[in-house]
Amino acid sequence: MGLDMNEIFVRIIIGSASDWDTMKHCAETLEKFGVPYDKHIASAHRTPEKAKELSASAESQGVKVIIAAAGGAAHLAGAIAANTHLPVLGVPMKGWAFDGLDSLLSTVQMPRGIPVATFAVGKAGAVNSAIAAVQILALSNPAFREKLLEFRKNQTMDALNSKFPE
Ligand code: RP5
Repeated sequence: MGLDMNEIFVRIIIGSASDWDTMKHCAETLEKFGVPYDKHIASAHRTPEKAKELSASAESQGVKVIIAAAGGAAHLAGAIAANTHLPVLGVPMKGWAFDGLDSLLSTVQMPRGIPVATFAVGKAGAVNSAIAAVQILALSNPAFREKLLEFRKNQTMDALNSKFPE
């Protein structure tokens, strides 16, 4: 797969720098698959114009999938989805209250017409959003499809070979 060094397939947007401790696992997973991505901090309420610009400009910059993560009244992914027709994957952050249930409901409960594909709260969602992005890219990119199948095969083998901890 001859990737153009300037190519960006996935855009990660986090609502606050405090989300990175969780969302770095998303970035690390994309890196394992060799997916070119960029990352930004933009908030739906603190920096709404920046969030809008990152969403509205994404397609013309070659981005295929946007991953948006926020906590609390987590409207970031929905606000991003409002300004693009690209698929938006939402990752609820655990935040400071309700064990992330507030973030989960805020992200997942999009009204009809503007979807946000929403993942598990926290690290599992961060990792799975990256894998889902690879799955989307794999639909039109045979190299990502191969990597995805290899990852799944290895994961299954690891699970089958796993032992009880000593
Ligand atoms: C949200 O508020 C962010 O996505 C973050 O999860 C949460 C807390 O932000 P900080 O107060 O830590 O900046 O907008």
